[in-house]
Amino acid sequence: MATLAEHPVPRDIDPALVIDYDFYDDEIYRTAGGIPEAMVELRKAAPDVFWSTALGGYWVVQGYESIVDAAKRTDLFSSVKMGIPERPEDAQMHQSAPLNYDPPDHAALRTPLNTVFTPTQMYRRVDQIRDLAIDLIESVAPLGKADMFEAVTERMPVLIFIDLMGLDRADFKTYRTIATAGISSTDMQERIDAGREARRLVTQCIRERRAEPRDDLITYITRMEVNGQPVDDELALSYCILLFFAGLDTVANAMAFCLRYLAMDQDLQARLRREPEKIPHAMEELLRRHAVAPVQRTVMKDECWRGFNLRKGDMALLNYPAANIDERVFDHADQVDIDRERINHIAFGAGVHRCAGRHLARIEIVVLLEELLKRIGTFRLDPEGEVTMRGGAVLSIGTLPLVWDTN
Ligand code: HEM
Repeated sequence: MATLAEHPVPRDIDPALVIDYDFYDDEIYRTAGGIPEAMVELRKAAPDVFWSTALGGYWVVQGYESIVDAAKRTDLFSSVKMGIPERPEDAQMHQSAPLNYDPPDHAALRTPLNTVFTPTQMYRRVDQIRDLAIDLIESVAPLGKADMFEAVTERMPVLIFIDLMGLDRADFKTYRTIATAGISSTDMQERIDAGREARRLVTQCIRERRAEPRDDLITYITRMEVNGQPVDDELALSYCILLFFAGLDTVANAMAFCLRYLAMDQDLQARLRREPEKIPHAMEELLRRHAVAPVQRTVMKDECWRGFNLRKGDMALLNYPAANIDERVFDHADQVDIDRERINHIAFGAGVHRCAGRHLARIEIVVLLEELLKRIGTFRLDPEGEVTMRGGAVLSIGTLPLVWDTN
């Protein structure tokens, strides 16, 4: 990341608002000591909105009030086209429902998902979630060290998601490889190829469920109605693809970032062991500090919005990870403070597209923290290992080597 004199600013944009930031892979992720730390640096460079010259040029919105406004101004910031940088025509044809629809079409597509992702429906799975968490944690607890990403935070939510969808647990690695490539690869062709492979796999599952229904989410989707009409194969595919990418990467990484923070903050760890009833509140605060999903939009018209000269066709990144640490809204915003009373974070987005899977994600993270703190002694980052991270549409952890006391 650098403020640029050498890269030409394309037009009437104040040069003071220009930063070269590649959200997939920026040097600042390494120089700042990690992606959450890089978000603090980005905020110092531009507290509200800036123009990045990387990736063909795009706006980055990262002030809390501005991002909430942008999320609500669907007439100005459309979700129909999301690619930064722009994708080839054929790769743009595949829309995800309801993510790539603006109001008024969005509501009808979102309604059937709300019915299945309610807190009550998701809470019905809590025993299954807890059993899996316990199994995974106990498989590494006696070792005193492990790559916690590989051993626990990647497996737990992904296996739960695989079961929910009715996919095959044996294909865990295949799904994960496709999801990480599709979301975070720095190579656009790899992202496009992963999307194609996901569509191929999911199309096959949809055909199978139509022929032989089961008690799973894919079957539910094939039987849904939108505006009183049954969902056809194309629409079923666009729902399933969204869930595939949303379910296979987000929670795993949010959990891993939360554990990384706890590994670095022994006092908070000790406090949560003493006061486990605070874990649900702590989860919200950890998520505020570690939002993992920046989202993309296309500007729909020329407008001077909050003092910024937007042009029709500009791309924009709503950088929730940075907006959640807006110091104008949260005191000592870069620190996790579980005594904060009001944690009105936007890790799950804002406006009509607010995350449909958030209740499930919350249950999973709370259960993980409860069971981990009960079963594993004080844990720290392994001084002999390296925590690796990636940017992209989901901020990700590659490895999370931890060590802990076993007595
Ligand atoms: C910690 C985990 C998660 C985070 C941080 C997260 C974050 C987000 C964000 C920021 C959005 C808004 C997208 C936009 O405005 O363009 C979103 C939408 C969505 N998420 Fe999540 N998500 C998580 C987990 C999940 C899970 C587990 C599922 C499903 C199994 C899911 C399903 C969805 C769906 C379907 C949407 C689209 C909603 C719409 O367009 O109306 N998410 N998520």
